[in-house]
Amino acid sequence: MAAPRKLAAGNWKMNGMRGALSEIEALARAHNGSRAEIVICPPATLIAAAAQAGGSVVAIGGQDCHRLDSGAHTGDISAPQLRDAGASHVIVGHSERRTNHAETDAMIADKAIAAHEAGLVTIICVGETEAERDGGETLDVIAGQLAGSVPECATAENSVIAYEPVWAIGTGRTPTNDQITEVHALLRERLMQRFADGEDFRLLYGGSVKPSNASEIFALANVDGALVGGASLKESDFSAIIAALNES
Ligand code: PGA
Repeated sequence: MAAPRKLAAGNWKMNGMRGALSEIEALARAHNGSRAEIVICPPATLIAAAAQAGGSVVAIGGQDCHRLDSGAHTGDISAPQLRDAGASHVIVGHSERRTNHAETDAMIADKAIAAHEAGLVTIICVGETEAERDGGETLDVIAGQLAGSVPECATAENSVIAYEPVWAIGTGRTPTNDQITEVHALLRERLMQRFADGEDFRLLYGGSVKPSNASEIFALANVDGALVGGASLKESDFSAIIAALNES
């Protein structure tokens, strides 16, 4: 099988008004023909317009979805609704959802199943807290989250795994290269044990990725791209990260 396409995914979180659509338009202009796949996950309010702005160059993703397709769930958004609005991807299990909304591995796996049934590619996040790292539990935590959050229906086509150490998100701190390599090797090993196409799943690193550290991170084994928060909000920063990925 051909080497899977590298992926630069931006997570805008609860940031962005309509004016920010110009950042997506600029990305689409700058990266026509990019080797790496580009995804922006804007707030839900912007998904439909962002899908227009991104055209065929920048794919659009949701930041979460419900496990059900429809019903009495005020404030929630279903996977088919994301798809209907123009999204092709969805992040599930981001640590901010795990922490702020008490999402468990089982809930995340159910969301991923719903997303796959709706034809969305999931970006499934795992990551240890600082206390877990300090306690020497990182690999156990990651293995447990991977086993519990990635459903049986996952394939290299419909799922991407993002390793995001909680302590590196929005802090400007990043793990050492050895720490990233160690976790990504574990992810690859476990995926290969469990899935026939485990070798082809794309593995993203996320947590304080910026133009100045992207090349170094993309050179590491089993790093197939990045999930980027703050540095995805500005076209110039995210473009520099995409350029680094295309050169890696
Ligand atoms: P950050 O966020 O790049 O701002 O650290 C990453 C993420 O939460 O996906």
